[in-house]
Amino acid sequence: MAGNPLHTPLCDALGCEFPIIQTAMGWVSTSDLVSASISAGAFGFLAAAVMTPEECETEIKAIKAKTDKPFGVNIHAFQKGIDRIIDMCLDYDVAALSYGRGPSAKIIDKVKAAGIKCVPTIGSAKHAPKAVKLGADILVCQGQEGGGHTGYTPTWLLLAQVLDKNLGVPVIACGGFKDGRGLAAALTFGADGIAMGTRFMMTSDSPTPNATKAKYLESEVTKIPVSKKLDGMPQRMVLNPLLEDLEKSSRLGMLARGFSNGMKYKSQTGMSMIETVKTAWAMASKTDMTLGQTMMAGNAPVIIQKAMVEGKPDEGVLPSGQIAGLIDDLPNCRDLITQIMSEAQDRLKAVSQ
Ligand SMILES: Cc1cc2nc3c(=O)[nH]c(=O)nc-3n(C[C@H](O)[C@H](O)[C@H](O)COP(=O)(O)O)c2cc1C
Repeated sequence: MAGNPLHTPLCDALGCEFPIIQTAMGWVSTSDLVSASISAGAFGFLAAAVMTPEECETEIKAIKAKTDKPFGVNIHAFQKGIDRIIDMCLDYDVAALSYGRGPSAKIIDKVKAAGIKCVPTIGSAKHAPKAVKLGADILVCQGQEGGGHTGYTPTWLLLAQVLDKNLGVPVIACGGFKDGRGLAAALTFGADGIAMGTRFMMTSDSPTPNATKAKYLESEVTKIPVSKKLDGMPQRMVLNPLLEDLEKSSRLGMLARGFSNGMKYKSQTGMSMIETVKTAWAMASKTDMTLGQTMMAGNAPVIIQKAMVEGKPDEGVLPSGQIAGLIDDLPNCRDLITQIMSEAQDRLKAVSQ
């Protein structure tokens, strides 16, 4: 729609009504959440990075059974079965692929040749030109306030740095958004839209168990720190007793915890203790992580699922953006998006007057 500041190049590139992306969140951005967000006019990504190819196919079919709106798939370059998932994206006419650390040039060329848009998330300005050179059609810039794995630059500073590079692709602000004020501010700043994770998890359409959502509702902005103790990479999570304990663990403590989790969760990870140690040792020798950290990393998915799937928030960890501290309701996606769009319209009108 010409002249409508809320219809941006993001909408044209991804075929969505509003300049809002629902990001991929492991065990959260399932077919239920994605079909709800895209039916309400946003663009949603299925969190396939934590799925097997079979699970991914079932989820893609479930979205397609509910709506014919376009959606995307999130992948991890090194996940098992990645080639099958990529083929599936082509077979099912998926509109976009999102990723963090870049997949191979071969994968990117293949999906781009099929018309699939590449939408990487970056957390540092220096990665922006590289991502565009590799084939990014849209850049999602996640500031340090954002949930899950995150960088060190605050959202507005990262956005300014990336916009100043004039890379010729739509730039999306991410990390710390929840409402129409944020959307209006991001558009005024020069971005083409916003991407939100935590806010979409905190809807009645997300599959996150109520006991876990209740912990997010209680959380405070200053008690959602970044820790490297779960898997060696900076990850923002709600501070709970388990995370407090992890933060206090020494190198030896981490090793002991890695061993005991390896024993406790071996049926869920499908790895024997010897396999766990071997894999961890191989990883530790290639990175600057300790053996204890790499053993913990192997169990991280099981620990996250305790909270996010099993509904036992005190036994697991709760990846979260700091914005959770400002969220105190659980609307459905349609009401949330309607509210965001009307608030953004009001803010833009107010400043233009
Ligand atoms: C519970 C949770 C799980 C996440 N899992 C993933 C994931 O599997 N893949 C990914 O690329 N990002 C993941 N993220 C990051 C989000 O996609 C998104 O970039 C981030 O939440 C944006 O910040 P916000 O929460 O302030 O909106 C996760 C975030 C949360 C809160």
